[in-house]
Amino acid sequence: MGVRNQIRFLLNDEEVRLKDLSPDLSLLDYLRLNKDLIGTKEGCNEGDCGACTVLVGKLVAGRLIYESVNACIRFVPSLDLCHIITIEHLKRNDVLHPIQQAMVEYHGSQCGFCTPGIIMSLYALLLKDPNANKYEIEKALQGNLCRCTGYAPIIKAALSLSKSGGLQNDILLKQREEIEQKLNNMFDGNRVEIISEKGEFFIPQDIADLVLLLEQSPNATILAGSSDIGLWVNVAHKDISPIIFIANLSELRNISQSTKGIEFGACVTYSEGFEMIAKHFPHLSEFWVQIGGNQIRNMGTLGGNIANGSPIGDLAPAFIALGAKLNLVNGKIERTILLEDFYIAYGKQDLQKGEFIKSIFIPFIKENEKHAIYKISKRKYEDISTVCAAFKLEIENKKITKAIFAFGGMAAKPSRAEETEKALEGKTFNEENIKKASLELPNDFAPIDDVRSSAQYRMLLAQNLLYKFFTEQKHEQ
Ligand SMILES: Cc1cc2nc3c(=O)[nH]c(=O)nc-3n(C[C@H](O)[C@H](O)[C@H](O)COP(=O)(O)OP(=O)(O)OC[C@H]3O[C@@H](n4cnc5c(N)ncnc54)[C@H](O)[C@@H]3O)c2cc1C
Ligand code: FES
Ligand code: FES
Repeated sequence: MGVRNQIRFLLNDEEVRLKDLSPDLSLLDYLRLNKDLIGTKEGCNEGDCGACTVLVGKLVAGRLIYESVNACIRFVPSLDLCHIITIEHLKRNDVLHPIQQAMVEYHGSQCGFCTPGIIMSLYALLLKDPNANKYEIEKALQGNLCRCTGYAPIIKAALSLSKSGGLQNDILLKQREEIEQKLNNMFDGNRVEIISEKGEFFIPQDIADLVLLLEQSPNATILAGSSDIGLWVNVAHKDISPIIFIANLSELRNISQSTKGIEFGACVTYSEGFEMIAKHFPHLSEFWVQIGGNQIRNMGTLGGNIANGSPIGDLAPAFIALGAKLNLVNGKIERTILLEDFYIAYGKQDLQKGEFIKSIFIPFIKENEKHAIYKISKRKYEDISTVCAAFKLEIENKKITKAIFAFGGMAAKPSRAEETEKALEGKTFNEENIKKASLELPNDFAPIDDVRSSAQYRMLLAQNLLYKFFTEQKHEQ
């Protein structure tokens, strides 16, 4: 097996090769402090405000795709074989880029601090969807905060471009083949090892190599999209070396479908998973775009969300209610467990040292099943749940034969409401029974008071969401 001791990527028009770098150096610090590319701004440094948005292009099945990401929580070594585009790349020969020009014409900027990030988010959108509509534009801007202009002029600027046919002459589209070729030339199929006194960063060449690395370093930090880990570094100042970066592994990025359901590789991002979710679980589409903002959905992986085990993570309740299973790998041992059994206690998951999540299997919903998920947060987008509730009922001959109700934000771990479920089994799906069952919720949960809400509010929410589920589903009986 070959080893490369160098990170290679393209930064705007430049080819970069780095050997000696800290494994947790953020892309934002690298751009501003090492490359003097200060158009990319630092706002929150926590992935929340979008001021640091840049584009990251990567080859997906041989085709170059650009996505918006938050540079503050993306580590430089994880950009191996990528093309990074910053705001400085847009204005060429002293001529503003069409998006910049539209922002000027529609008065889309006041103090200007958010503006580079907003332009980069719109750039990513219009490259992918030249005729994006208002909804798509709003979705692309979920992760960009502007405190002074307001969004109306910004949206008008974006709409003016999408209505006039987008960015046909854009340099990134014209140079696509050339850039693809450059990235292909950089690829050598080797493991990457960056080892210095600043720490260690590994990129395994394939799954077998990942297993090997984890056997050698079972305490290493497994890094996927870094949307949780970025905060461990920036906010908690945690030392996360040695790091094993897994999000480049194609075996962990597969999505496959069988007659029974869909298997998502652990490193499928929310954005990559959206199409399959929208096709097979259309009622989850709106919930899916309530996870983070667009940049977070481009970075965050399904496996990362599940492994992180936050009691207010959104995928756990959604997938537990659907009966999801995890495929875990530890050395030569591969095992499958129900997702609900993965969560043991606060911060404790059924994940051994050196073990990783390979894939997540989501069974299809059967005809006699009803399923819904509700996320309640202070802000609709780019916010963590106060309570997330997912309900699934199996109904035969008007009687409930099985109930699975899974909640986030109600306990120290994502949990099922077993007493409430029991109260409904064998009963008719009607208002009286639902109201009676909701009185069991205090027997299932004793939620906490915290900055997001009081315990009392959480309980009331949980009860009302069960009732909402009933009112939405009753007509479909
Ligand atoms: C601004 C912002 C908004 C957010 N909004 C939401 C939201 O609305 N809802 C929500 O649920 N979350 C949200 N998050 C949290 C985060 O984005 C998700 O949990 C995300 O899915 C984590 O995935 P990742 O790939 O980025 O994980 P990483 O940060 O790379 O890793 C997270 C954890 O998972 C482990 N890990 C990763 N992959 C594997 C694997 N395959 N096997 C074993 N362990 C693994 C890592 O070691 C680490 O412990 C938000 C985060 C930010 C910064
Ligand atoms: S600085 Fe706010 S998202 Fe990066
Ligand atoms: S223009 Fe000032 S924050 Fe957006």
